[in-house]
Amino acid sequence: MYYNRLSETSPFNLFYRFLQAYPAPASLNYSWNFGVLALFCLIIQLLTGIFLTMHYIPHVDYAFISVEHIMRDVVDGWLIRHLHANGATAFFVCLTVHQYRALYYGQPESSDSLGLAGNLMFAILIIIAFMGYVLPWGQMSYWGATVITNLLSVIPFGFGHCCLALIGWLCYWASYVKSFFKFTYCVTFCFSYFSSTSFCSFT
Ligand code: HEM
Repeated sequence: MYYNRLSETSPFNLFYRFLQAYPAPASLNYSWNFGVLALFCLIIQLLTGIFLTMHYIPHVDYAFISVEHIMRDVVDGWLIRHLHANGATAFFVCLTVHQYRALYYGQPESSDSLGLAGNLMFAILIIIAFMGYVLPWGQMSYWGATVITNLLSVIPFGFGHCCLALIGWLCYWASYVKSFFKFTYCVTFCFSYFSSTSFCSFT
């Protein structure tokens, strides 16, 4: 029993099930690559994000200057930042093609919940990208943050009010950047967990 469980989860078995016995549809074409490309984008975002974090300062007074420091003084900092900013766009392109491919070619009925999880992950990614966009704390970040957080205030039964309180109150900008930074960090790692379960459900 123990041996069976072990052999089922062994790396070789995973390799065999994924590369040899993977039930591929007859209509398989290049658009199927976008799932793994999305995973590649996630890895790039995580790695570049960690390097940016080493020099980024999550404080309203220093956020913008620290990003400028990354661009001008840090060796290859400009490259890491551009990889991160453009990696976010590439991530959305890959996920959109990945989802449209699933809609266009159809999915097995058994994977309905997987489609639902995919939509949920897409929504979470929009939140992560929005929070990342706020971090440099330039003019665009400021107005983006103002518009989007004001949207929350329309949620009835005091829920919007609670969301604003959680973010750190609109008037108290000092905690704002810090909260967004913490949220980006935590939510991205939850997102990575979600996507790994989605990936493993296919292997
Ligand atoms: C799915 C994953 C992620 C997405 C889509 C994402 C997206 C973004 C975006 C759009 C920006 C603004 C880029 C700019 O205009 O400069 C940004 C900035 C930033 N992100 Fe992420 N991010 C992700 C993961 C992470 C992770 C895991 C970390 C930290 C470990 C991180 C740390 C940062 C930092 C420090 C900045 C501010 C520096 C800068 O603006 O270049 N990000 N992120």
